[in-house]
Amino acid sequence: MSYALITGASKGIGKAMALELAKRKHNLLLVARSEDLLKSVAKKITQQYAIKVDYLAIDLSLSNSPKQVYDWCIANNYTIDVLINNAGYGMSGTFDKYSLAEDSNMMQVNMTTPVGLCQLFLPMLKQQSRAYILNVASTAAYQAVPGLTLYAATKIFILNFSRGLRQELKNSSVSVSSICPGATDTEFSTRANVGNNALKTAQKVNMNPEKVAQIAIDGMFKNKAETIPGLINKLNVFAAWLFPKALLERVAMKLYLE
Ligand SMILES: NC(=O)c1ccc[n+]([C@@H]2O[C@H](COP(=O)([O-])OP(=O)(O)OC[C@H]3O[C@@H](n4cnc5c(N)ncnc54)[C@H](OP(=O)(O)O)[C@@H]3O)[C@@H](O)[C@H]2O)c1
Repeated sequence: MSYALITGASKGIGKAMALELAKRKHNLLLVARSEDLLKSVAKKITQQYAIKVDYLAIDLSLSNSPKQVYDWCIANNYTIDVLINNAGYGMSGTFDKYSLAEDSNMMQVNMTTPVGLCQLFLPMLKQQSRAYILNVASTAAYQAVPGLTLYAATKIFILNFSRGLRQELKNSSVSVSSICPGATDTEFSTRANVGNNALKTAQKVNMNPEKVAQIAIDGMFKNKAETIPGLINKLNVFAAWLFPKALLERVAMKLYLE
């Protein structure tokens, strides 16, 4: 019996991916900080689908959290064949608004913990006849985003880390994919403390997390390197390739800092 382990599964895109995998009869391990939310997601899924679900409440900004997640799986005899690194958040405003501790925590959740989980679980994933890693990046990975500077940098890290690892593992049973959502209707903007300008623009183009999750899980099982959900996000990424970087950065700055 094998499980899909999803970080950030208490709400938003992670919760929607848990439901999407439950529909496909995959057993689930849900990880995030909010124990009450994890418990209710697990309860809802087990009532609706005949699958096994367990959860672990843990703060993934702690440096030993990947090892704690791994040890929990080993202690419970949980075999993982899907690892989804979804937990993440942004911090909007100028870079100097935040402390080094706040920067480090976000970099740990968005980059170091996903790397740690890939490192620790890879031997187990390689033992499966078919296994999948899905890392959640962002359309912010395709350009610098003044006003979300460090967040965007964590997402290009995740995207390039995923692409490199994918090539290294191409002759193994493990496929590595990324999903790059744009504005999605979750608690992301609230936690990132995004201002009115960006909020209003996002509201016009927001995708719902269920649709993003469905596209993400499809892309993962189809072994796609990189999936951008939705036409508007695809056009934005094309524009990021087409237009001068300085122009795109000025537009982003207007959106996030004015
Ligand atoms: N929404 C968007 O517009 C958007 C766009 C592009 C990319 N993304 C990416 O999509 C992913 C999911 O975000 P979302 O939009 O679904 O936002 P969300 O609704 O805020 O969900 C974030 C998830 O991450 C978990 N999380 C955050 N900090 C954590 C920590 N320190 N330890 C453990 N878990 C933590 C949260 O759980 P707890 O709070 O319970 O810990 C929650 O389950 C993120 O990587 C984000 O960067 C989002």
